[in-house]
Amino acid sequence: MSITNFPGSANSSPLDPSITKVTIPALAEMKRQGKPISALTAYDYATSRLVDEAGIDMVLVGDSLAMVVMGQENTLAVTVDEMLHHTRAVRRAVRRALVVADMPFGSYHGTVAEGVANAVRFIKEAGAEAVKIEGPRVALVRALTDAEIPVAGHLGLTPQSVHRMGGYRVQARTADSVEQIKADAKALEEAGAGLLVIEGIPREVAATITAELTIPTIGIGAGPDCDGQILVFHDMVNLSFAPQAKFARRYADAAALFRKAIEDYREDVEHRAFPSDEESYHLPSAVKKELEAERAELKPVQLRKA
Ligand code: KIV
Repeated sequence: MSITNFPGSANSSPLDPSITKVTIPALAEMKRQGKPISALTAYDYATSRLVDEAGIDMVLVGDSLAMVVMGQENTLAVTVDEMLHHTRAVRRAVRRALVVADMPFGSYHGTVAEGVANAVRFIKEAGAEAVKIEGPRVALVRALTDAEIPVAGHLGLTPQSVHRMGGYRVQARTADSVEQIKADAKALEEAGAGLLVIEGIPREVAATITAELTIPTIGIGAGPDCDGQILVFHDMVNLSFAPQAKFARRYADAAALFRKAIEDYREDVEHRAFPSDEESYHLPSAVKKELEAERAELKPVQLRKA
């Protein structure tokens, strides 16, 4: 098969030609057409399959996995190798959505060359289609773009800056900081970013940035006027064991569902109600009869011995 001529449409998924793959240009087209973009985080094969099969446009392997999957208190400790491991699992599951991998803290905070080398690993070793980096790192975004690596910028409340921000606080609340974030957003777009995540900023600021950029904005805690929305999967289904943020609407209570299933299973095991005979494998009847016959023949011998 020629790689420049997939069967089906120009954007056919290489893994399934009947599916039209979501790409960075496709997201830009959605913005042009005013079609909202849906995005979710995912970190493993099972949830990524569900997210992709539900038609979500973009899957972010977020470094939030440090907290919601690994139980750490913030996102700072997760490593490139851990992020690669999860990105590979997501990649195996996703057919349609754009797969974006988060570059973890420390992997792009040194030289631009180090940042590019780490980003290359996400594309080459894990199959990501774009990387996300936090903050107005314009030189790095330009270098990544030159290296053919699509970039998602991330401005506003950037969790990797938790110590500088003094906690997870809504950003861009003063006139100066509003001007700054607008300038940063424009600079990232000019440097080649393909989309911009904006987190934890006032709705009005997010609306202005969205109107001023040609690349799509994906909001989280940034109001309804962004081109798309993203939530952390575990927040959305109540699996994050954290106080609920104002913007994190819960669409399901997976904690309650799982807890009940686990408790029911434990009770069944303790009462020998699981597994049932129907849930057990059985010998073929011929073998069963043979064994019974052998046992019947052995019985008198055993009795004599006793
Ligand atoms: O890591 C993450 O989950 C994120 C989203 C909150 C955008 O960066």
